[in-house]
Amino acid sequence: MTSFLLDVDTGIDDALALVYLSALPETEFVSVTATPGNVDADQVARNTLAILELCGRPGIEVAIGARAPLHIPLVTTPETHGPQGLGYAELPDPQGSLSEHDAVDLWVAHARARPGELTALITAPLTNFALALRREPALPELLAGVVIMGGSFYHQGNTTPTAEWNTHVDPHAAKEVFAAYRGRAVDKLPVVCSLDTTERIEMHPEHVRLLAEAAGLALPEHVDGDQPEGQRSTADNALIRQLSDALRFYFEFHRHYDQGYLAHVHDYFAAGVAAGTLSVETRLATVDVETESALLMGTTVADFRGLWAQPPNARIVSVNHPDAAFQELISAVGALAVTLG
Ligand code: BDR
Ligand code: CA
Repeated sequence: MTSFLLDVDTGIDDALALVYLSALPETEFVSVTATPGNVDADQVARNTLAILELCGRPGIEVAIGARAPLHIPLVTTPETHGPQGLGYAELPDPQGSLSEHDAVDLWVAHARARPGELTALITAPLTNFALALRREPALPELLAGVVIMGGSFYHQGNTTPTAEWNTHVDPHAAKEVFAAYRGRAVDKLPVVCSLDTTERIEMHPEHVRLLAEAAGLALPEHVDGDQPEGQRSTADNALIRQLSDALRFYFEFHRHYDQGYLAHVHDYFAAGVAAGTLSVETRLATVDVETESALLMGTTVADFRGLWAQPPNARIVSVNHPDAAFQELISAVGALAVTLG
């Protein structure tokens, strides 16, 4: 069993991460917290509750913490994830309501209550996590491990030429988090899934077709780049239909940026790393984040060679396996879709 503290900014690929983790029988969601990023915090929370309910996981505590980055105004990205954050998917309003607790309080309370038991996964800007580390500096030791989706090292950015989205939204939080990890034991350092390897996790229309097949759908799920933009799925399985509608938007977004009719599903990959179902190799590095320069704001820099003479504070994923990642996604989520009907 993996017991998760999750922080998300749901988001199409965050949604895929939540669906995937819901599909694993050995997942316990201890708390899922919302950081503003792809959409504002209230919309993140609504999307998260709705996705968990769609996946047959009602009643999970979903909470809001920060409503803006630490030092700069919030910028959201409707062009990437749609105005509501889930592309063309239109989920029913969630039955459950938002927790009355503050996200940062929950992280600290849960980590203290179950030392060494909880795995943290953050697929959002690091705002809430930075605040939790301020409140409880022993958080790295209290957690079983931490996986972060963010950063772009020797790879171009997806928000500016050098910066990745999550880090660009709240560069000060990211800088604080990496500073807080300097000098910690190697096995407690965050595993960082940066664009260097998450952009290899390219989801294609064929994967959606295979997913529908694994879900036992009577008719093939036909998604391709020749269809008019905005065309919706007619799949008779709600989970597959909603995922297909979300992904259609994400494919179109990537095509608008000349990357082809495909989608980088960063957060799903980070979820698989956190769940231990996707194997990776990592490299120790000292990471820092630029917060002063207008040109390089949010750029993450990794020192792999000790040139700064600073102790390592991150384990950056250096090798991953996209084919295995999609086989795993299709088989786990296909089986969940069969169960949900
Ligand atoms: C990250 O940015 C967000 O838009 C995605 O959800 C992912 O977490 C990729 O840069
Ligand atoms: Ca995200």
